[in-house]
Amino acid sequence: MGKRIIFATGNEGKVREVRMILEDTGWEILSMKDVGVSLDIVEDGKTYEENALIKAKAVAEALDGEDIVMADDSGLEVDYLNKEPGVYSARYMGEDTPYSIKNHNIIQRLEGVPDELRTARFVCAIAAVLPDGEQLTVRGVIEGRIGYEEKGEHGFGYDPIFYVPELGVTTAELLEKDKNLISHRGRALMLMKEELKNRAYFGRQ
Ligand code: IMP
Repeated sequence: MGKRIIFATGNEGKVREVRMILEDTGWEILSMKDVGVSLDIVEDGKTYEENALIKAKAVAEALDGEDIVMADDSGLEVDYLNKEPGVYSARYMGEDTPYSIKNHNIIQRLEGVPDELRTARFVCAIAAVLPDGEQLTVRGVIEGRIGYEEKGEHGFGYDPIFYVPELGVTTAELLEKDKNLISHRGRALMLMKEELKNRAYFGRQ
């Protein structure tokens, strides 16, 4: 029994990414749907970590305590906009507003702002509730700049305006597998993998 990681999300893309990064651990990665849990969780935390933990705890409570339950929360911080939209990234200008409109709005709010003041980052916190009851969180970050126009067809959300200076492209111009290697979520997942190795949940290679 055991050896299951439940990732508390309705987003199959995220589950795919978790599988890719944790596939060598020998643990089975399942979504909420896979284990028949359907919850409407209110994410009313003030930080990414709080929100991730709210989700992981809610799902852990609905299960029998033998699994590792993980959840994430992420957002875009634009320095010139006092780190908006931040934890409200999904709700910025309304949950159902298309990202083309949200992205144009951010570009407009940065009109005339020079390169060096257009700094921004994607942040991702991942929380885990372990079978012994321990709760932990990790944070991954990718630094970049807000571009002057939308670029790229891959990714989702704010990717078309998030420019990575070292690569000379936006994260929407990267293939999913390449973005995962450097993204906030990819980095947070690697850190969580290390934390679980340190606790001997996963073997060391
Ligand atoms: P959540 O953590 O799934 O609730 O995502 C929060 C929101 O942050 C998303 O809806 C996007 O608006 C934004 N976001 C988080 N990660 C990314 C990313 O990798 N690319 C683009 N937008 C992102």
